[in-house]
Amino acid sequence: MTGTARAIVRAPSAQLEAGELTHQERLSVDFELAAHQHGAYVDLIRSMGYTVVFAPDLADHPDGVFVEDTMTMVGSTCVLARPGAVSRRAEIVSMRATLVELGLRPVELAASGSATFDGGDVLLTERHLFVGLSTRSNQAAIDALAPVANTQGCQVTGVPVTRCLHLKTGITALPDGALIHNDYIDAAPFVELGYQMIHTPEPNGANVLVLGKSVVVSAEAVETAARLREHRYDVQTIDISEFHKLEAGLTCLSVLLNR
Ligand code: GLY
Repeated sequence: MTGTARAIVRAPSAQLEAGELTHQERLSVDFELAAHQHGAYVDLIRSMGYTVVFAPDLADHPDGVFVEDTMTMVGSTCVLARPGAVSRRAEIVSMRATLVELGLRPVELAASGSATFDGGDVLLTERHLFVGLSTRSNQAAIDALAPVANTQGCQVTGVPVTRCLHLKTGITALPDGALIHNDYIDAAPFVELGYQMIHTPEPNGANVLVLGKSVVVSAEAVETAARLREHRYDVQTIDISEFHKLEAGLTCLSVLLNR
């Protein structure tokens, strides 16, 4: 890890419990515990060599803590998201300011007003930019992302997401380029494209956070952690139970700028 690796996070709003839900039932959230879990998450990222940057608090935005959804890096290009949930649109203004302060030049999608995408629906590998076709992200956004991806040598591929919030709820990339997925996402199209796939039966197991060569797994996903250790990955676990209640995974809580 170089000294320039940075991670953007945002402290949870006290209104976290009122965040958007698409597939899960609403459960009560222990805010004190959520704040504690967020602190531990930030400490873990720091311990892996990242400089952590806090985006400004957004007290009136329950989902503002899920900073991943506000943008996506496509190679060296930082693209601002166009959130599918109306309640989340103002988060982009704040993230743009934070990115500019960090010296990045975020770009907006050249697309019609109907195009929407959340960063949680974007999975970038060395060869592909996979974009979930979900309740949040649509074909118009995929069409607009295609030229950006092409300039970075990546092919854009839409992936139907019908059983969970975001594409990355059901599939993420491991440090060696293999993909881990759960039953929310069909492995077949990825196998056809030549990806090595690891399956987990756990709903909260497929969203893993890669920090250098380490793979961070939700503490709830015990079987996933064991399976990845069998595959010789360096696995760490962390409890984010209160964020899972808002359909979020580990990647949702940060934007990693690995430069
Ligand atoms: N609760 C996370 C989201 O719906 O965006």
